[in-house]
Amino acid sequence: DWTMANFIDIEVDKIRDLVGDKKVLCALSGGVDSSVVAALIHKAIGDQLTCIFVDHGLLRKNEADTVMETFRDKFKMNIIKVDAQDRFLNKLKGVSDPEQKRKIIGNEFIYVFDDEATKLKEIDYLAQGTLYTDIVESGTETAQTIKSHHNVGGLPEDMQFQLIEPLSTLFKDEVRALGSELGVSDEIVWRQPFPGPGLGIRVLGEITPEKIEIVRESDAILRDEIKKAGLERDIWQYFTVLPDIRSVGVMGDARTYDYAIGIRAVTSIDGMTSDWARIPWDVLEKISTRIVNEVGHINRVLYDITSKPPATIEWE
Ligand code: XMP
Repeated sequence: DWTMANFIDIEVDKIRDLVGDKKVLCALSGGVDSSVVAALIHKAIGDQLTCIFVDHGLLRKNEADTVMETFRDKFKMNIIKVDAQDRFLNKLKGVSDPEQKRKIIGNEFIYVFDDEATKLKEIDYLAQGTLYTDIVESGTETAQTIKSHHNVGGLPEDMQFQLIEPLSTLFKDEVRALGSELGVSDEIVWRQPFPGPGLGIRVLGEITPEKIEIVRESDAILRDEIKKAGLERDIWQYFTVLPDIRSVGVMGDARTYDYAIGIRAVTSIDGMTSDWARIPWDVLEKISTRIVNEVGHINRVLYDITSKPPATIEWE
């Protein structure tokens, strides 16, 4: 009968038979799907797998370190980390349109990945964390795309690799179970959805290093308090956004004129529709106090109480 352990045995054999002594490449984003696919393929073929992890500078606090600790230090995978922060920031300079930002980040990701991949010799296969739902959804996709949803896993079309997609029969909850069975940490297996363009679409309008820092620090506080309150698995997604709004405040005896930050926290089944999460007021109070005290240039905290529709989950 079907168990996760059986699934792993069967898939490991299949991957070994297919790959033989050839080499496999994987784009690791730190998300659930690419992490689990990397762990599975690594179990099958070890050092014949190389992962490329692009840090576009729009990741959450400590995210890059967690990925490296997990996969390089714990799993001992061949993993190439590309620090591409400056490349992305330069390309995004002066750009404030959300779709334009998505396009630039998605394209730049492909260029960076391409640059690294061409340095590697004799790669025959590309592993991707495509799920069953990804296949079904792209088959029924309509022209009515509300946002382009560039997934930073998108890859160059002219690359000469054969694809390996060992998760293509699985649903998200099965991928999580598989990841746990393979020893991937809860932190990654239970990671909330995080958009490919990352914090780049949570700084509304033009992106600056200072604004990314504000979103990153406030987001870290929010996540910390949600965790302490034990609400992590009850809320589908929670993050902060920085609109380009400044307002007047008072600190000590002085007037301030600084940014307002928004908190977005939603419950959802699949991200298609959502409701705003009823976070207890005392938890919100703690979050608000910590953000204004610990994050520079914030003097006001807002809570987004809109469902989807009419609002989307992200603000851009
Ligand atoms: P929206 O904002 O459209 O988001 O209600 C629905 C879900 O999709 C995620 N999202 C993205 N994921 N690339 C991604 O990989 C994107 O460009 C993107 N935009 C939104 C969002 O975080 C939510 O989970």
